[in-house]
Amino acid sequence: MNALKIKGAVALVTGANRGLGYALTEELLDRGIAKVYAAARNLDTLGFLKEERVVPLKLDVTDESHTLDAIQAAADVEIVFNNAGLALSSTILGPESVAEARKEMEVNFFGPLRIIHTFAPALAQSGRGVVNIGSLAGLASVPFMPTYGASKAALHSLTQAARSLFGAQGTAVHGVYAGPIDTDMARGLEIPKASAREVAAAILDAVEAGVEDIYPDAFAESFAALYESSPKRAEKQFAAMEL
Ligand SMILES: NC(=O)c1ccc[n+]([C@@H]2O[C@H](COP(=O)([O-])OP(=O)(O)OC[C@H]3O[C@@H](n4cnc5c(N)ncnc54)[C@H](OP(=O)(O)O)[C@@H]3O)[C@@H](O)[C@H]2O)c1
Repeated sequence: MNALKIKGAVALVTGANRGLGYALTEELLDRGIAKVYAAARNLDTLGFLKEERVVPLKLDVTDESHTLDAIQAAADVEIVFNNAGLALSSTILGPESVAEARKEMEVNFFGPLRIIHTFAPALAQSGRGVVNIGSLAGLASVPFMPTYGASKAALHSLTQAARSLFGAQGTAVHGVYAGPIDTDMARGLEIPKASAREVAAAILDAVEAGVEDIYPDAFAESFAALYESSPKRAEKQFAAMEL
């Protein structure tokens, strides 16, 4: 896979207003990105408006019309970070679990699918690419976020499909499989977490090195070693996890 270059490129980050998306946007700016479309559902929540290389973009990834507007507004984009994510349900047996699973799928799977579908012509050349922010929970189910894990498993499959589809045209496709990150999403988890900024830096290092499957923190690296040697043992290890 061709390695992407950040300096001088044009990027788009979904969910750029907080958490990992905010950290990725800051890290892109520090590494000399020429322009970054900072996409958010609510533009009032974006904190970068004073930086002239940042172009705010209204984008709810579950809204087809927003995605179509985004490609008009950001036709020069070269690297798309599918970062926006949602984690709701803590059990598959709760009264709301089916409805919550649908919402997670809409954001975590259909959102990136819509964006890849819409932006494919813009990304169809060497030096351009997509970075899908997945999760270790998409490789092995985590007991306290089962439907989130299912949506990230769907994203993992989409990442593989996009890689196989776009490989011949030179478009880079990266999957990120992160462990716990210190953001709002993981606020209730009493386990060690990596900082969003260090995870963002590790992701961009790996993107620039042309690494396809990115494990951007110590927890993820250690899990990856187990997962790559035995997916079944990795499943058992996660199944035994407790909060
Ligand atoms: N935190 C972790 O431990 C962890 C671990 C592995 C992977 N990840 C992944 O990392 C990514 C970033 O998560 P985070 O930890 O930064 O979570 P977060 O702090 O909860 O932030 C989630 C971001 O996604 C945005 N978002 C949610 N629904 C959206 C929609 N329909 N359209 C557009 N944006 C939407 C949110 O925007 P609003 O402000 O408008 O809600 C927010 O910017 C996610 O894909 C997540 O699954 C996180």
